[in-house]
Amino acid sequence: MVAASNANAPIGVFDSGIGGLTVVRELMRQLPDERIIYFGDTARVPYGPKSPDTVRRYAREIATWLQHQGVKAIVVACNTATAHALDTLEEEFSFPIIGVVEPGARAAVRASHGGPIGVIGTAGTIGSGAYERAIRALAPQARIAARACPLFVPLVEEGWLDRHATRLIADDYLVPLRQEHVDTLVLGCTHYPLLKPLIADVMGRDVQLIDSAHETAAETARVLDAVGLRAQGSLTCPHRFVASDAPEQFLRMGQRFLGTAIDRVETVTLG
Ligand code: DGL
Repeated sequence: MVAASNANAPIGVFDSGIGGLTVVRELMRQLPDERIIYFGDTARVPYGPKSPDTVRRYAREIATWLQHQGVKAIVVACNTATAHALDTLEEEFSFPIIGVVEPGARAAVRASHGGPIGVIGTAGTIGSGAYERAIRALAPQARIAARACPLFVPLVEEGWLDRHATRLIADDYLVPLRQEHVDTLVLGCTHYPLLKPLIADVMGRDVQLIDSAHETAAETARVLDAVGLRAQGSLTCPHRFVASDAPEQFLRMGQRFLGTAIDRVETVTLG
């Protein structure tokens, strides 16, 4: 396949929906000169409960579409898509593909003081064992406690960030990890950074929370530098936001994840 070798080409970013805007927010902060095309697969969200094969098929379709838009690299902002499809995309596409799992694992290993490392994510991410593998590749002796927290995604999408019901669910999911004395907790899902204050409260202030969005943006900068594809000069064209369904909802909820308002959302149907 043909690689875009133009440093001023955009970076493609995709997620199962709008949650990946937490990664875009960090990319915009750390790489302000880079133009972004974001694809949110709002027609087929959530990916968390879907089979690895299905998620791989979706990821391949989106990466192909982004390739046709002339991107120079792709950031897989979705933890579930990274867990199931990163290897496939790396094999099939010739430009750099950056996932969220490895940067998060690296940050967790760096932050941990040798206590168990906790990982939370969707059922798909946790079931894949991707974070365990990534952490063990860096720290073979690491003790890991992983837990799927599937109800967090709909709660965040409802904006229930500090409701009593959310607190009860967070206690249910997280108290067992606290009892295992994890010293670091990886927020292995696009939506969880929005629950950071609540999760911090349940886990206690000694537990370090790892937000993979921040680490992924830093990794993207490193990868682009390594291959000489960092944008030259400042941003001239606007970012593009694309959804596979319900663009009005994307516009309405996007600000919660991105931190700033989105002016326009295009609709593209895949599959
Ligand atoms: N974007 C997904 C992730 O980070 C969460 C939402 C979903 O289940 O699709 O795993």
